[in-house]
Amino acid sequence: MSAEHYFSADPKGVERRRYVNVSAAGRQFRLVASSGVFSADRLDPGTAVLLRKAPLPTTPGTYLDLGCGYGPIATALAAAGGGLVHAVDVNARALDLVRENAAAHSLADHVIASTPEEVPDSTTFDQIWSNPPIRVGKAVVHELMDTWLPRLAEGGVAWLVVAKFLGADSLQEWLIERGWDVERHASQKGYRVFAVRRPEEEDAA
Ligand SMILES: C[S@@+](CC[C@H](N)C(=O)[O-])C[C@H]1O[C@@H](n2cnc3c(N)ncnc32)[C@H](O)[C@@H]1O
Repeated sequence: MSAEHYFSADPKGVERRRYVNVSAAGRQFRLVASSGVFSADRLDPGTAVLLRKAPLPTTPGTYLDLGCGYGPIATALAAAGGGLVHAVDVNARALDLVRENAAAHSLADHVIASTPEEVPDSTTFDQIWSNPPIRVGKAVVHELMDTWLPRLAEGGVAWLVVAKFLGADSLQEWLIERGWDVERHASQKGYRVFAVRRPEEEDAA
C-alpha cells in the first residue's frame, strides 16, 4: 500500500474497489473491498486459516469482530450464527464496506459496524473473533487485548489468528502471563489459531 496504512482512520486516497470471494459457513460471499483497507486484493491468508479452522457459532449470540476491515469475518459470523455482530475498526472506509457487504447479503440486521468508542461499555460478547493488527506494534495489540478480552461473557471464547513470523508464540505467552487460558487450536500455513478463555471457567467445567 502507498505511504498510507490500512489502519488509517480516514484513508484519503482514491477508492479503488475490488471484489474478494470468501467461502465460510457453507456459503460463498462476494465481498466488496477497496484500496485503503487491509488485504483488499484477496482474502488474507491468516483470515482464511481462521475461518477454516475455528468453529463458527451456530446459535445467535453477541459477537465481536475486532479489527474487521471490509468484513470477511463479520459476514461469516453473522451468516453462521445470526444474532448480532459488532464489527469494529478504526478505519472509516472499512466500516462503510462492512455495512455495504452486510446489506448485500441480507445481513444488515445482524451487523453493527462502528469505531471502538461507539460500542456501548456495557456490551459483552459471547465470542470475539480477530485477525488483530499485529503490524501496528506490540503495545497497541496488548492494549487491544487488555481492552476487549475482559468483555467476554461468561463461558465466552476469543478466536485469534496470528502469523508465527509476526510473533504468535510471544503473544500467546503474554496472554498466559496476563492470566488467560490460551489453547493453540490449530496451526496452518505459518499461522496459529488460538482459543482464549478465562481459566477458572475451564476448571469449573
Ligand atoms: C489484520 S487486519 C484484519 C482485517 C479483517 N478482519 C480481515 O480479516 O481482512 C486488522 C484490522 O485492525 C484494524 N485496527 C487497527 N487498529 C485498531 C484498533 N485500535 N481498534 C480496532 N481495529 C483496529 C485495522 O484498521 C485493520 O482493518
